[in-house]
Amino acid sequence: MIQIRNLIFSYTGNTPYILDKINLNIMERSYVSILGENGSAKTTLVKLILNLLKPLSGIITLDTEKIGYVPQRVENFNSQFPITVSEMLKCHMKVLKLKNSRSILNSLEAVGMENFKNTLIGDMSGGQQQKIFIARALMGNPKLLILDEPSTGIDIQSQQEIYSIIKHLNLHLGITVLAVEHNLKAALDNSTHICLMENGSATLYPIDEYKEML
Ligand SMILES: Nc1ncnc2c1ncn2[C@@H]1O[C@H](COP(=O)(O)OP(=O)(O)OP(=O)(O)O)[C@@H](O)[C@H]1O
Ligand SMILES: [Mg+2]
Repeated sequence: MIQIRNLIFSYTGNTPYILDKINLNIMERSYVSILGENGSAKTTLVKLILNLLKPLSGIITLDTEKIGYVPQRVENFNSQFPITVSEMLKCHMKVLKLKNSRSILNSLEAVGMENFKNTLIGDMSGGQQQKIFIARALMGNPKLLILDEPSTGIDIQSQQEIYSIIKHLNLHLGITVLAVEHNLKAALDNSTHICLMENGSATLYPIDEYKEML
């Protein structure tokens, strides 16, 4: 699903490279959790895969253009901004040029949030907001779902619901999942592979192999 060959990147264009000759091969239908210290370039790698940043050198090939993205939550996200769930999703429909008016309801049903259509985003809990951001990411029926720390700052109950949604999408809809994780337990419980990032490198382990190293 994702092939990365000799990827090199730094924000300055010069050494030191924060990603230094990365090679990865992420298979269709896998669920990969990216682990690594703060600043180990996890979000940067995700942005390169999403084509939001350009590699200094190297090649990233994706098998699909249908990608859903749930960004890392911003701490001072203006939750007072007066917009309802369906207004936000309607906006995203336009971005994706979707015509089917059911796509909003379909995506809300996929995360069990169909009763929140007319709720203001600012009136929701962090967990509910996150489910709405997952719904938004699902609107174009993605083949690949990329999430950046899906459970950071979210209550335990919502965390469990969110991972059960993600796991369902992976197992039953065959969506390939790439999730940056600080939640080690969630990574161990749900993923098929761990991508460990340290010192500018990235190594992919099958989950059982990774567990044996702990
Ligand atoms: N837009 C930017 N311009 C310049 N440097 C940046 C930019 N974004 C990130 N960096 C730097 O690149 C390095 C990697 O950042 P990145 O956000 O990818 O790390 P991360 O692994 O996602 O960290 P965290 O776990 O804190 O989210 C850090 O040293 C960071 O300061
Ligand atoms: Mg990050």
